[in-house]
Amino acid sequence: MRRDMVFYEAPKAPVSEAIRNLRTNITYKMNQTGMNTFLITSSSPEEGKSFITSNLGIAFSQSRKKVLIIDCDLRRGKQHKIFGVDNTYGLSQALENNRIKRENLSLNIEIDNLVQNTEVDNLFVIPAGRVPDNPAELFENGRFDVIFEFLKDKYDVILFDVPPINIVTDTMTLCNKADGVIILCSIGQTKSDVLLETKEKIESMEGNIIGVVVNKMPTERMKAYTKEYTKYSTDGSKIIFRK
Ligand SMILES: Nc1ncnc2c1ncn2[C@@H]1O[C@H](COP(=O)(O)OP(=O)(O)OP(=O)(O)O)[C@@H](O)[C@H]1O
Ligand SMILES: [Mg+2]
Repeated sequence: MRRDMVFYEAPKAPVSEAIRNLRTNITYKMNQTGMNTFLITSSSPEEGKSFITSNLGIAFSQSRKKVLIIDCDLRRGKQHKIFGVDNTYGLSQALENNRIKRENLSLNIEIDNLVQNTEVDNLFVIPAGRVPDNPAELFENGRFDVIFEFLKDKYDVILFDVPPINIVTDTMTLCNKADGVIILCSIGQTKSDVLLETKEKIESMEGNIIGVVVNKMPTERMKAYTKEYTKYSTDGSKIIFRK
């Protein structure tokens, strides 16, 4: 089994149950507010951003939503590996492509080339593409906004997979583009002062924090239910929404 597509391949695993719970909470928020674009970030590397983003995307697609995942981690993009899609033309090339501009009458062709179908029904991915020399600057040249505006109304849910906020500035630039920001932290890894710093950084860029997901929560009792996911049982991944 491909471990990172657990919701697709093991829908009854504890971690899938946790993701389902997360989807329910976000759906409630969506219904209340009309939000439909979300950015999932964390303070440091390897906390589970890409894992949660891809599985949440699968979960939404299974509730009959048309979902797009945009891999905005131009340095360590992972969504193409998770979904097994081609990464030769990805977001980084599009951000370098001077045909991506509002006045281009064939903009739809440029952007359609970028969006990859996946084996999961209703789920589409924009892969990160080749690692560019200047990822942070690429997000500031205005092309991301053109792409995002073009796509925004074509999907029910759009999820951004981004780098950790305390490592590179790219996420700072992106966090006010999504309707809501979800901060991921992980048990035994994220220190509370660092988490507070992350919150302040996002708020300083006018990112709208809607909740915190606690990932990789070990629970002894889950061992009785599953062999494969004992390391990170995740009844587990919890989301706590602000009011
Ligand atoms: N809840 C979970 N249950 C099982 N495995 C998990 C869970 N969360 C993360 N992982 C595993 O932890 C590893 C790191 O996860 P992932 O790549 O999603 O982190 P990341 O925050 O996106 O890292 P980076 O900062 O490099 O982008 C992966 O091997 C993933 O499969
Ligand atoms: Mg990642």
